[in-house]
Amino acid sequence: MPAASKSPKSHAALLRRELAEHNRRYYEEAAPSISDQEYDRLYRELVDLEEKHPEVRTADSPTQQVGGRPLESFASVRHRLPMQSLDNTYSEDEVVEFYARLQKLLPGREIPVVIEPKVDGVAVALTYENGQLTLGATRGDGTMGDDITQNLRTIRSLPKKLRQSFEGVLEVRGEVFFPRAGFDALNRQRAAAALPMFANPRNAAAGSLKQLDPALVAKRPLAFIAHSFGLAEGVGVDSQLAMFKLLGRLGLPHSEKHWTANSAEEILAAIRELDRIRRSFPYDTDGAVVKVDQFSQRTRFGATSKAPRWAMAFKYEAERAETRLLDIQLQIGRTGVLTPVAVLEPVLLSGTTVARATLHNSDEIARKDIRVGDTVTIEKAGEIIPAVISVRTDLRTGREKTFSMPNKCPVCGTSLLRDEGGVFWRCPNVDCPGVLKRRLEHYASRGAMDIEGLGEAVVEQLVDAKLVRTLPDLYDLTMDQVAALDRQGEKSAGNLVAALIASKERPLWRLIFGLGILHIGSTAARALATRFRTLDALAEASVDRISLVPDMGEVASGSVHGYFQRPEIRKLLGELRLRGLNFGERDPEPVARAAGTSAIAGTKWVITGTLSRPREEIAEQIREAGGKVIGAISKKTDYLLAGAEAGSKLDKARELGVKIIDEVKLAELLS
Ligand code: IVH
Repeated sequence: MPAASKSPKSHAALLRRELAEHNRRYYEEAAPSISDQEYDRLYRELVDLEEKHPEVRTADSPTQQVGGRPLESFASVRHRLPMQSLDNTYSEDEVVEFYARLQKLLPGREIPVVIEPKVDGVAVALTYENGQLTLGATRGDGTMGDDITQNLRTIRSLPKKLRQSFEGVLEVRGEVFFPRAGFDALNRQRAAAALPMFANPRNAAAGSLKQLDPALVAKRPLAFIAHSFGLAEGVGVDSQLAMFKLLGRLGLPHSEKHWTANSAEEILAAIRELDRIRRSFPYDTDGAVVKVDQFSQRTRFGATSKAPRWAMAFKYEAERAETRLLDIQLQIGRTGVLTPVAVLEPVLLSGTTVARATLHNSDEIARKDIRVGDTVTIEKAGEIIPAVISVRTDLRTGREKTFSMPNKCPVCGTSLLRDEGGVFWRCPNVDCPGVLKRRLEHYASRGAMDIEGLGEAVVEQLVDAKLVRTLPDLYDLTMDQVAALDRQGEKSAGNLVAALIASKERPLWRLIFGLGILHIGSTAARALATRFRTLDALAEASVDRISLVPDMGEVASGSVHGYFQRPEIRKLLGELRLRGLNFGERDPEPVARAAGTSAIAGTKWVITGTLSRPREEIAEQIREAGGKVIGAISKKTDYLLAGAEAGSKLDKARELGVKIIDEVKLAELLS
């Protein structure tokens, strides 16, 4: 620990040197000598120091460049061996035929095959030279791919150094995926920050890997799973089963479950069993891959120019249904963006009744030629909102109506504008009642200011009755005004007014989140409130200071800063202050808040595995609630918070009888 007597400059230099060394050990040697928590503490210390003494900040400080520099573009690389695809089928009969073909080619011989999950991720090839990760590439066209080594280095479950020393070149192939838990959280955050959502985890993984700035990739909880070797000379492995064993010894994650089979019936049984259990995996699967086990037999079967003859992918049917499109409605969001939504004849789709589906944007409706009255196919991928994927044009009667985007906002009549990206249409009217309704709903929602009784229907009435034209108007509502609304009695009016008064005491982060600043979800709002303490301090902060807050990227920092510069926002905040809202001055001190009251106070925690949010963020929450986060597990540890792919710590916790909980349980304890 640097002594307090050191000058800020030499203190900062020492911290930088230490952090650089830990980064080297972590990223290059895969042999960290301190826990993530300790690393984060050192990092935080440097951030604080640089903030207090900006003159000691240097361009090469790790606070200024998390995880490497952004690239201009990716370099192209040639694969040492082409990355082939797999022949696909949806038919069990074709699987039977596939195995019969193999038997015909090697008559009288046993042909053991392995069945494993087909991971719905992004294919990558990793080159290890003498055990060190030297190159990571996308598949590209199978011959040439993009060099995305920097991005892949940010993935925790992907070793930068193999656990066993290894001479020569080993190319490992597998899939990068977005863990489902993390994906739902990412989309929730994006929705809360009014950002477009990812359609499915695969798109989120692909989108993340395309980022040129590895610091952004590092924030996504991507994970990796290996399923095959590319060039692997001299590894001494002669079968898929032996490969799994070696992968384990080298520290490379592989699928948790695989089956072996010696007949078509056994293959089909394995495929069916996989279908029953695959939803419990942390990644999405879209099929089963059937592979000949012995590499020597694979050579005998050979490959076509596209795919090997010794393997086949059986794909599970996506969950689809057909129904009628009754109408296309426009939904206005709190940023003014208008999204077309399909109103459907209700239909059962994987266990739930679906009556609405997203149509994303007007270009997509035109591209798919979707018309009101059409019979459409809808699909639900994972836990995502269903989407209209295609139209049964063969069922058209001629009475279907084409859709065209109106020129004017359906709520306030203002001429619509195309968004910067040119895809979305937006109502630019800052006073549009449609936008105001969405903003008020968000402000009052449970995750934000938590105002009971102020749901969608009441917001609708208040705005339509022109009792509320701006957010601060909420706080001028009288009981009589509310009671005069339809379906409101004196009691509920009294409750609403009381809830509004109570909301003036909400902690600052809820207010920051409730304001609905673009790109700011509840996690970012908490981080901002923790750092700046008052809304005034935040409103006065420079972009640079905002960007020093953990997890605030350039876009989010710019958005916060820009928000507080707007004159109408200054006015709005002035009015909220006049009405007595807590701008942070009345937030309890973090330590006092924790003391004794929470279930977590005084407990010791270890965190492991892939989680939906950055680990330090979760650690911070635990600390705020009075818990202590430590690096290594022992008998004295109270809880292990285990994410996906938790490894040795999970085993240790079981061994020692330490309580193991997941993020959902943690959220319960925190609340
Ligand atoms: S083996 C010759 N095993 O699916 C290809 N591939 O649709 C050898 N995939 O290109 C690949 N899970 O990117 C294999 N368990 C698995 C897989 C898998 C997903 C991907 C892979 C392949 C694509 C073909």
